Amino acid sequence: MDLTVRPRRLRSSEKLRKMVRETRVDPSTLIYPMFFTDGTDIKSEIPSLPGQYRYSIDRMDEKLDSLSEAGVRNILLFGIPEKKDEIGSGAWNANGAVQRALRHMKEQYPHLCLITDVCMCEYTSHGHCGQLCGTEVDNDATLELLSRAALSHAQAGADMVAPSDMMDGRVRAIREKLDANGFTNIPIMSYAVKYASAFYGPFREAADSAPAFGDRKSYQMDFHNRREGMKEALLDVEEGADILMVKPAMSYLDMVREIKDATDLPMATYSVSGEYAMVKAAAANGWIDEERIVCEMAASAYRAGADLYITYFAEELAKYMREGKIG
Ligand code: PBG
Repeated sequence: MDLTVRPRRLRSSEKLRKMVRETRVDPSTLIYPMFFTDGTDIKSEIPSLPGQYRYSIDRMDEKLDSLSEAGVRNILLFGIPEKKDEIGSGAWNANGAVQRALRHMKEQYPHLCLITDVCMCEYTSHGHCGQLCGTEVDNDATLELLSRAALSHAQAGADMVAPSDMMDGRVRAIREKLDANGFTNIPIMSYAVKYASAFYGPFREAADSAPAFGDRKSYQMDFHNRREGMKEALLDVEEGADILMVKPAMSYLDMVREIKDATDLPMATYSVSGEYAMVKAAAANGWIDEERIVCEMAASAYRAGADLYITYFAEELAKYMREGKIG
């Protein structure tokens, strides 16, 4: 055969494959989402997220220790309050679970980068991501509530805030609030391109945040849309976002690539609860090889252009990276 170009040449041994590998990974790019709750001595497993727990402040150290040991340096904090109300006032309670967790971690784990999810849905009695006006979420009224929540996180020691509500104008509103209070150096990682997705199902069980009526389609994006995703991303750049996120990850990697090519900001993508749950369920049945699937999913996110990868598998992935199973 007269074949000059033989792509298989560079695939012929592990050492060559490793040498020419195009995607390199590092544990410093992993972000681990973690759920904090009021009360004491609580470490309760989330049924649809086996291996994931809600922690009370006095029980979180064991996880933070093993994450630190594995080399995971970045935590995305979610709060699950005891009491919820119409406007979600628990979101900016200085003694809420997130705020207390932040103060504790700031003191005991200063090497960790603490990022907070900023949204109302865990705190509202109706489970929507903002203040209601009738049965609609009132965009502009919600901006002030989100800004208050973001400010209270910064005051409690957050290194970065991450609004996930999908209200219009929230990045600008949060930026102004932080700046006006002396937090000009706290970056905003915007859930810029967040789709209304069934992949969030297990999270809503974890956070008890499913909407009491209707759905989130009037604020989260229609999953058929691509141009609209670009519009959202560019708007957030204009409003002052420091990092852009696409969410979920696995079914939306086209958006990661497009936005990566169109902007200069670091890109994050969030492999959400439904992705984790599907892998866990299939692996528990012996239908897939969990370790290899997790590595493949992560590599595809980085290959698509993600600089940061948010995943419930962060600790495992850090280990796989060290062991050379990925990257
Ligand atoms: C809050 C929020 C959600 C997730 C992250 N932030 C739920 C939602 O929008 O309904 C989902 C995360 C996951 O599924 O892992 N708005």
